[in-house]
Amino acid sequence: MMVPSSTLPDPTRPATVAAMFGQIAARYDLLNTLMTFGLDAGWRRRAVAAAALPAGGWALDVGTGTGALARALARAAPNAQVIGVDFAAPMLARAARGTSSTGARIRFVRADAQALPFPADTFDCVTSAFTIRNVADRLAAFREQARVLKPGGRVVCLELTWPRAPLFRPVFRAYFRYWVPILGGLLAGSARAYTYLPESVAQFPGPEALAKLLRTAGFVAVRYELLGGGTVALHVGVRP
Ligand SMILES: C[S@@+](CC[C@H](N)C(=O)[O-])C[C@H]1O[C@@H](n2cnc3c(N)ncnc32)[C@H](O)[C@@H]1O
Repeated sequence: MMVPSSTLPDPTRPATVAAMFGQIAARYDLLNTLMTFGLDAGWRRRAVAAAALPAGGWALDVGTGTGALARALARAAPNAQVIGVDFAAPMLARAARGTSSTGARIRFVRADAQALPFPADTFDCVTSAFTIRNVADRLAAFREQARVLKPGGRVVCLELTWPRAPLFRPVFRAYFRYWVPILGGLLAGSARAYTYLPESVAQFPGPEALAKLLRTAGFVAVRYELLGGGTVALHVGVRP
C-alpha cells in the first residue's frame, strides 16, 4: 500500500500532524497493540519506573494521545496528580473516557508541546511516549519540558528508533514500511498515517543524537536504553 510522500503530513506544519492524529484516534490503541504485538504496554511501564514519580507528586505527559501513559503514572504513585497534554482534540476526548479508576487525579489539557501552558518549576517528572518525533521544533519542546520541571525533576522520553542489528534491519524495514501501512489502512482507515509513521522514524535522530539534544536543552545525567529489539529508545535526564 504505497502513499506518495508528497501527501504525507508535514511536521513543520503542526495543524496537519494534529489533524492526522485526530483522524486515527478511534483506532489508535488497537493499532498500537497489534503493531507492537502488545509490547507497548511494557515499554510504558519502563517509562513510568524511570520517571520515579513520588507519592503526592506532579507529572506531565506530553503528547498523551489516548492517555495510556498518564493513567499508568497515576496508578504508580499514590495521590499523585497527572496532567496529559495533546494538540489533537479527538485524542483527548478518548483519553478522558478512560480515566474511571484514576479520574480525580488526571486532567487533560489541549496544548502544543512547544508552548506548555504551565508555570516554571511545576512538575516532578515530564514524560512523552512516541511524541517528540512528531514535534516540529524538538529543542524548543525539550526546553519547555526543562522549564516546567522542578530542579531535580526527571524528563523521560520513549520513542521509536531504527534498529542497528544488521540482520534485523531489513526484517524491520519490510515490516514497518510494508505491513504497517496495510494494517493502518485496513483497521484505522488511514494508510497515510501509517505510512507517515515509518517515514517519521527514518528521519528522526538516533539515540545518541537525541541524548545530545536533551543535553543541549539543559538536562544532565542523560542516559538511554534500547528496548523492543532496538526499535525503541528510552531516554532519561535530570533538570539541574
Ligand atoms: C504517536 S501518538 C502517542 C500517544 C501516546 N503518548 C502513546 O504513548 O500512545 C503522538 C501524540 O502526540 C501528539 N502530538 C504530536 N505533536 C504534538 C505537539 N506539538 N503538541 C501536542 N501534542 C502533539 C499527537 O496528537 C498524538 O496524540
